[in-house]
Amino acid sequence: MWRRRPAPDAARHVAPDDPTAGGGGAAGAAGGAIVRTVALTKVYGAGDNEVRALDGVDLTVAPGEFVAVMGPSGCGKSTLLNMVGGLDTPTSGRVFVAGADLTTLPDDALTELRRRRIGFVFQFFNLIPVLDAVENAALPLTLDGASGAAETATEWLTRVGLADRLRNRPDELSGGQQQRVAVARALAADPALVLADEPTGNLDSKSATEIAELLRQVAAEWHRSVLMVTHDPRIASYAERLVLMRDGRIVDDLVLDGSREAPLRAMERSGLL
Ligand SMILES: Nc1ncnc2c1ncn2[C@@H]1O[C@H](COP(=O)(O)OP(=O)(O)OP(=O)(O)O)[C@@H](O)[C@H]1O
Ligand SMILES: [Mg+2]
Repeated sequence: MWRRRPAPDAARHVAPDDPTAGGGGAAGAAGGAIVRTVALTKVYGAGDNEVRALDGVDLTVAPGEFVAVMGPSGCGKSTLLNMVGGLDTPTSGRVFVAGADLTTLPDDALTELRRRRIGFVFQFFNLIPVLDAVENAALPLTLDGASGAAETATEWLTRVGLADRLRNRPDELSGGQQQRVAVARALAADPALVLADEPTGNLDSKSATEIAELLRQVAAEWHRSVLMVTHDPRIASYAERLVLMRDGRIVDDLVLDGSREAPLRAMERSGLL
C-alpha cells in the first residue's frame, strides 16, 4: 500500500548553503531539488503570545514531484507554503527554490523568482471578477510585460479543459472551472513549482477530484513540482508523496501508491485522527 520514505540523512549532512544538494534520495539523484528547506523555523509573536508555527522543517521536493501536506488545523501547513512561496520570511533556517536561496535574495530578485518560477493556487481561486478567463490566466505575464500573454494563457486554458470558456468571466464559471483558470494562471509563466493551499477546499466532491487529477497531470505530464496542502485524505491520495505535520514539525513522510485509503491510514498510524 505504502512505504515510508528513506530517512533524509543526507539532507542533514550537506552544507546548508549548497543549493544543489538535494538531500532526500530521488531529489538529490535528479540533480537538484526544486524545493529544499533546511531547519525552517517560524515563530509568530513573543513571550506568552509566542507561536512556533514551524519548528525545524527539512523538506525536499524533486522536479516534477507531487507532494501533499496534511495535518491538524494550526500545525503550520500554510506557513510552510508561504515560506516556500517567498510570501513570508522565516525566523531561522533556509529555503531554496529552484536553486535560489530565498532567505538571502534581494527583494527585487525575490519578486522576480516568485513571478517566474512559482505558481500559486488558492482555496478561493482569487480571480479578478471583471476579467475573463484568458485575461485572468494571462495576468502574471501581462504584469511581467511579456509578449504573447493571451496566446500562452489560451494554450494553458485549453490544456486544462476550458477551450469553450475562454471569454467567460469568473461569475459565469463553476467553482471547478474557476479553479482550472487559476491553475492555468499558475502555469502561464512556466514555473518550476506550483503551490496549492487547499485548492479543493471550496469545491464539491466531483470538482475536487477533477482538480486533484489536474494537479497530478501538472506534475506527471507537465513536469512541474506541486506542493499541495489539503484537509481531504482522498484528495491527498492523488499525490505521489504525503508529508504529515503536527505542531510545526514533519512527523511522517511517505510514498503513496494511488490507493484512495492510504493517506487516511497514514494519519491513523501517526495519531492525527
Ligand atoms: N500572521 C500570524 N501571526 C500570528 N500567528 C500566526 C500568523 N499566521 C499563522 N499564525 C499561527 O501559526 C500557526 C500555524 O498557522 P497555519 O496557518 O500555518 O496553520 P495551518 O496548518 O495552515 O492551519 P489550517 O489547516 O487551519 O489552515 C497557528 O497557530 C496560527 O495561529
Ligand atoms: Mg492553512
